[in-house]
Amino acid sequence: MVAPRRVAVVGAGHVGLVTAACLAYLGCEVTAVDSDLRKVEALRRGNLYLHEPHLRDILDACRERVRFTTDLEPVVLASEVLFVAVGTPGRADGSVDLSGVEGVARGVGRVLGGAGRERPLVVVNKSTVPVGGGDYVSRLLREGGAGEGSFRVVSNPEFLREGSAVLDTLFPDRVVLGGESEEALEIMRELYRPIVEQSFPSPIEPRPKREVPLIVTDLASAETIKYAANAFLATKISFINEISRFCELVGADVGEVARGIGLDHRIGGAFLEAGIGWGGSCFPKDVAALRAMAGDQGLGMPLLAAAEEVNLAQRREAVCRVRSALGGSLEGERVALLGLSFKPGTEDLRGSPALEIAALLIMEGARVAGYDPVSAKEAARRVPGLEPCHDPYSALEDARAAVVATAWEEVRALDLVRAAAIMREPRLLVDGRNALDPEEVRAAGLLYSGFGRG
Ligand code: UDX
Repeated sequence: MVAPRRVAVVGAGHVGLVTAACLAYLGCEVTAVDSDLRKVEALRRGNLYLHEPHLRDILDACRERVRFTTDLEPVVLASEVLFVAVGTPGRADGSVDLSGVEGVARGVGRVLGGAGRERPLVVVNKSTVPVGGGDYVSRLLREGGAGEGSFRVVSNPEFLREGSAVLDTLFPDRVVLGGESEEALEIMRELYRPIVEQSFPSPIEPRPKREVPLIVTDLASAETIKYAANAFLATKISFINEISRFCELVGADVGEVARGIGLDHRIGGAFLEAGIGWGGSCFPKDVAALRAMAGDQGLGMPLLAAAEEVNLAQRREAVCRVRSALGGSLEGERVALLGLSFKPGTEDLRGSPALEIAALLIMEGARVAGYDPVSAKEAARRVPGLEPCHDPYSALEDARAAVVATAWEEVRALDLVRAAAIMREPRLLVDGRNALDPEEVRAAGLLYSGFGRG
């Protein structure tokens, strides 16, 4: 079998753009399609609108194999494999907005309906779709006019973390393929062979992986793997956050406890950092969606409900500590938020715990000054009343309390003595990411409050 050379990726966001770049880096001819002409024109000029390490190097190494367009039809006709990588945002009730996927599937169906193909187009669900999404996309393709033999649907969930999406693509812990068509799965095996065998030139040294397990399973299992992975990671974080509350009662250090349990290979040390909890565009959405899918069929998922509740309680706890240190009322009090993005290294504010805390503080009458090296202005647009600050000290000026919400390097490197000099009594610092050294904070004249330590 010759590896498929012509690949389309529809949706040039974090997942789609990184997938397109990495497949081209592996030798495929890739066309990324996006309905946003501004994005396409920016990409054609080499202007990457997202901060992903290695993305530019990867694209520079294979620029002649990557094209960008808004025109779906010719791409469908020319491609062997088409990845659907458009956003599938969550709704308040936990259901998933599939309008993007529906638009792409119907559009691809229309093109397939109008043209004969030698071999079926392999349509790959890279976007996180509810379980059953593969069958749903098949139905949409047929509704669009595609004949039975013109396509095959495969699920290929992504496990990309923002800020390490390129390395998570080239050196994944595993590749998951789900589908019912052996022919389509064989084409996907060929496509992923360089990653599974790690046979491509590594863009970083030392090479992180020697080989990558490949799981080939049915559609529903592949789709469930994605949700179960994120739900487990979110639950693992809520577990350590619950343990951190216990640590505060007994004077234990949650960092030491995390280290001690994480060395058990059955537990693993990652995702055991206590603090104000998990956010982002995936964990909140996928945990809510998993619960909603189960709930629609009468199944409760109390463990996930508890993980969400613990997560919410962490935000509230940060606000409680500020309120009690300021004498029980936040009315008119100035509070600094240090870090606004949902995690360091990204401009992404989706599901950011910092924004939830800002809203809670403002609701109680506080005057909140929010610092972030990249997203302060956008955060102020999203949270009415939030004062955007482009350096931490203008946020800390006259503040009586500060909350470390995102562990940016700029926050970790804060001049604590200067912070104490410009803040006002009681100079409380709530370390929502256990990012600072409690002793250093106290020595500088600040009150330290960590999560499960200090
Ligand atoms: C996550 C999954 O890791 C990834 O596999 C999936 O494909 C998409 O969702 P991402 O949302 O980019 O990736 O961020 P991640 O680094 O996983 O962090 C998620 C949230 O958990 C962040 O708010 C982070 O601050 C928080 N977190 C992470 C903790 O609170 N403690 C930890 O130990 C780790």
